[in-house]
Amino acid sequence: EVDKKVAALISEMTLEEKVGQMTQITLDVITKGDNQYSSSQPYQLDSALVHKAIHTYKVGSILNTPGVPLSRQDWYSTIKTFQDEAAKTPRQIPIIYGIDAIHGVNYTIGATLFPQQIGLAATFNKDLVKEAAKISAYETRASSIPWNFSPVLGLGRNPLWPRLWETFGEDVYLGKTMGVAMVEGYQGTLGDPNTVASCMKHYLGYSVPLSGKDRTPAWIPERELRQYFLPAFKEAVDAGSITLMINSGEINGVPVHASKFLLTDVLRGELGFEGVAVTDWADINYLHTRHKVAETIKDAIKMSVNAGIDMSMVPHDFEFAELLVELVKEGSVSEERINSAVSRILKVKMQLGLFENPVTNPKDYPDFGSDKFAAVSKRAALESFTLLKNKDNILPLEKGTKILVTGPTANTMRSLNGGWSYNWQGSEADNYAKDMNTISEAFTNFGNATFKQGVSFEGENNINAAVKAAKESDVILLCLGENSYTETPGNTNSILMPKDQIELAKALSKTGKKIVLVLLEGRPIIFNEIEPLVDAVFMGYLPGNYGADALVDLLYGIENPSGRLPINYPKHPHAFVNYNHKHSDNIAVPNYYESDYDQQYEFGDGMSYTNFEYSDLSLSADEMDEDGSITVSVKVTNTGKRKGKEAVLLFISDLYASITPEVRALKGYEKILLEAGASRKVSFTITKDELSFVNEKLETVAEPGDFEITIRDLKKKIKLK
Ligand code: IFM
Repeated sequence: EVDKKVAALISEMTLEEKVGQMTQITLDVITKGDNQYSSSQPYQLDSALVHKAIHTYKVGSILNTPGVPLSRQDWYSTIKTFQDEAAKTPRQIPIIYGIDAIHGVNYTIGATLFPQQIGLAATFNKDLVKEAAKISAYETRASSIPWNFSPVLGLGRNPLWPRLWETFGEDVYLGKTMGVAMVEGYQGTLGDPNTVASCMKHYLGYSVPLSGKDRTPAWIPERELRQYFLPAFKEAVDAGSITLMINSGEINGVPVHASKFLLTDVLRGELGFEGVAVTDWADINYLHTRHKVAETIKDAIKMSVNAGIDMSMVPHDFEFAELLVELVKEGSVSEERINSAVSRILKVKMQLGLFENPVTNPKDYPDFGSDKFAAVSKRAALESFTLLKNKDNILPLEKGTKILVTGPTANTMRSLNGGWSYNWQGSEADNYAKDMNTISEAFTNFGNATFKQGVSFEGENNINAAVKAAKESDVILLCLGENSYTETPGNTNSILMPKDQIELAKALSKTGKKIVLVLLEGRPIIFNEIEPLVDAVFMGYLPGNYGADALVDLLYGIENPSGRLPINYPKHPHAFVNYNHKHSDNIAVPNYYESDYDQQYEFGDGMSYTNFEYSDLSLSADEMDEDGSITVSVKVTNTGKRKGKEAVLLFISDLYASITPEVRALKGYEKILLEAGASRKVSFTITKDELSFVNEKLETVAEPGDFEITIRDLKKKIKLK
């Protein structure tokens, strides 16, 4: 039905109308004055430019932040202006507006912001992630925006990379299952006005540039591309994601925007993706200006459209449309290629119901910014905080404990929310959401806490005052980490904890007071020099608007921590190794060095205030055929005194294989809640899929032989016949 409607519409459209649909402009192009991405000025639409974009160039899509967050009513009026203009065009095709609502619709005043993806991954709770995505979709649509450039499906396997926090961490299985949960949460039933189109990004291999710097070259053997980076996209395509954004970088010397192999052969041919592939920001131009594979912008357009892109995000002024028309007329790009791109775009607009409902009325979204949504955000933050050290069970604290809150991340919302929060690089966000607290506010509100800055990101250094206040307190809550950043501005030459933060920690430790360290950071910052000086460590990631309130509940034991690390936490700057490393990554040479694999904390680490005992690991069989399956069960008992949630993780090791096997890899997880004293049996199904890898011939295979199953410290062997 939809396909027929699309075909009928295409048959009426002129070439100019078609290339217009393939064009996505930024809001900056049609506003008055300077309204750049990180502007602090509210935008003002320029009606002559809006007219030119929609009527002269027949633009089909617009994106971006207005510089500062807008009210829902303002979003409604803005989008309505565009849709009203589009309704006056001959074909009346609605505009599709897209935005980076990656942890909530952060450009709308009053919206609910959740932990960033890395924190959501740490919850190991798919249901919660789906619920958070569903709320984000509702609030995005309540702002009349139907397209969300999320989730990130790349793997955060390089801690230097400034977008690690936008991923679900380093693991393939965690990444793909969380990715599916998020796609399902965003899209629900397509056409429902409470849902949005998801956008799988950034296809493919974006997250592991060799230098660690954003958008610099990556070198990834095809075998690894297929084993590590493709599965999350495949699963999300199968889950029905209808759009995809392309990696700005180059892999093995080929910019992905020019790769017919990746954009057509693999994406369409193998993965069967039928939705819209949009470029990233100005990336067609970069084929000419940055990557130097196209001698002119026109060559770049030809290369990229022929490789398989459907929509150009932020093309070079309106030249894209004019040059693409020329290319078609010259026969360098076929009209068939244009038709396939435009069909996909029109289909997505129809699937989203934009022809019927080009805007949504804020009044129809009564739950926007509600307490019940805030409670889900806080719950996600609570389940993401990861307790990595708790010497002598210093935590939880007793009520009434006198606390000094100090450190650069203690009194800023930027370190709680990270980038893509109220503007591109993250903002303090005063008054943009209700009841938000920084850590210092949350603790002083709770009672018996004082705040001294110690050191700040702005260069303040008042360590003496912090030390003095520490002497009058029982416990120091030391808040270290990073200020917010996004994309290339977040590039760094070092992931060592900055000197002033180390200095603060050392000075405080001399007071002899107990120190609880909380880390708010988008990537793991190495702090081995001060780790022995602190008594407890919480990794907080970027926990969102209610992260500070969650921390109060966790520190005082009102809630029990249950987060697990979705990444390895490095100990040494030049010795980062992923958890699912190869055996030869760990060659110990006695008397020289103990171990090459020496991380501060490992993927999957995370403690609770109660104890979980694992027993009765059992198998339904210990041998299976290629088409068979084995059920693995384990009993988990809460032997402590308080209820708690536990993420039960199942790892598999292929003992011998034709490609060197990983020491272990996650192949199942489930988050359970157990009252004190209660037990539960948790079961996982193992099939050929969980035993497979990509071999030298680039085939996904499970080779016969022995495998070891590990659940915490319990192990069993199985055989694939
Ligand atoms: O969605 C983003 C992408 O992740 C990075 N470049 C800009 C896009 C649109 O804002």
